[in-house]
Amino acid sequence: MLSGKRILLIIGGGIAAYKALDLIRRLRERGAAVTPVLTAAAAQFVTPLSVSALAGEKVYTELFDLTDEAEMGHIQLSRVADLVVVAPATADLMAKMAQGLAGDLATTLLLATDTPVLIAPAMNVRMWEHAATQRNLATLRGDGVRVVGPNEGDMACGEYGPGRMSEPLEIVAGVEAALGQGPLQGRRVLVTSGPTHEPIDPVRYIANRSSGAQGSAIARALAVLGAEVTFVTGPAGVPPPDGVAVVRVQTARQMRDAVMAALPADAAVFAAAVADWHVVGDSRSKIKKVAGTLPTLQFAENPDILAEVSQLGTGRPKLVVGFAAETDDVVANATAKRVRKGCDWIVANDVSPATGIMGGTENAVTLISDAGAEVWDRAGKDVVATRLAARIADALGKG
Ligand code: C5P
Repeated sequence: MLSGKRILLIIGGGIAAYKALDLIRRLRERGAAVTPVLTAAAAQFVTPLSVSALAGEKVYTELFDLTDEAEMGHIQLSRVADLVVVAPATADLMAKMAQGLAGDLATTLLLATDTPVLIAPAMNVRMWEHAATQRNLATLRGDGVRVVGPNEGDMACGEYGPGRMSEPLEIVAGVEAALGQGPLQGRRVLVTSGPTHEPIDPVRYIANRSSGAQGSAIARALAVLGAEVTFVTGPAGVPPPDGVAVVRVQTARQMRDAVMAALPADAAVFAAAVADWHVVGDSRSKIKKVAGTLPTLQFAENPDILAEVSQLGTGRPKLVVGFAAETDDVVANATAKRVRKGCDWIVANDVSPATGIMGGTENAVTLISDAGAEVWDRAGKDVVATRLAARIADALGKG
């Protein structure tokens, strides 16, 4: 709940501004008061009238409005809030914030405020990935600005990739966490992610196609809900999220040790695609190619980290979640796996090449628990992550 909290909501000028209207509703539903501020560009996307009608308050738009200055100066306006939220935070607004520019009301408020700031970036994927935006993002993070999103997906401009503003409920979760009210506040959660690399010799290794995208999204979603996340990751293709403690490993055996060192935890999510075997006696020198002969590799089993943690006597996390990447009889195999491993939930997915899930941006999962199998609609991996994090918060909240 956000009752008694005041949010100063700065709406930037991007197509995602329409989602700010729903955000106002969601914040007010939870008891927050919302003081809206529109940039000049934002007023091209949403009208001041609709914003103020939803907020139930006057909307502020111009820096040099003498009436407003008489009513409430911009310095005061910037300080009455418990949190300043910028949604959408456009590339332009982020650049101005990073530079400390104050050419209009919104940027002046951002420069004058002494309350925490949360931004929800939204822009075209190329603009998001541009070195200048990433530099500005790093500057803002360094200044203590909290960031929610952006999500990956189809964009209004017809392109695909990261840059979509987070959904209003994700931003609300970010607001709650920023105000120390996330449902996972004070909870420790461990997440494994990515593939493992099992060396054959000093230059060759055995790997798999896991990108680490789903594990990364889960860790981010848990952190947004206020959890203290330890993220144990193999060599993944996507970067770890912000705001989590990252432990990097290469092999399954290293991952097992890192997991054990990260316990105790309230919940553990094993999203890593751990290699089942390692090569015995990986040589210290490169195996030479010898004409007419083939090298023989001998394998030994890797530790099953999920099973080991699930079957811990003392120190077992209250909720242990495993993944099951299957190509056939997904639900039957995953249901059997849940029992065999001893975990509480299994998130099962079909990784047949035709689904494009392994290494892709979407996931279609079935959540298997002692209550049975629950099919979730195919959605972006970040949406699946948000849903799973909410379920974890629910489960921990009940216990
Ligand atoms: O047995 P299988 O690899 O299909 O089980 C998948 C689940 O077990 C995943 O949650 C994965 O992270 C975990 N796992 C593990 N350690 C292993 C193998 C799998 O934690 N050695």
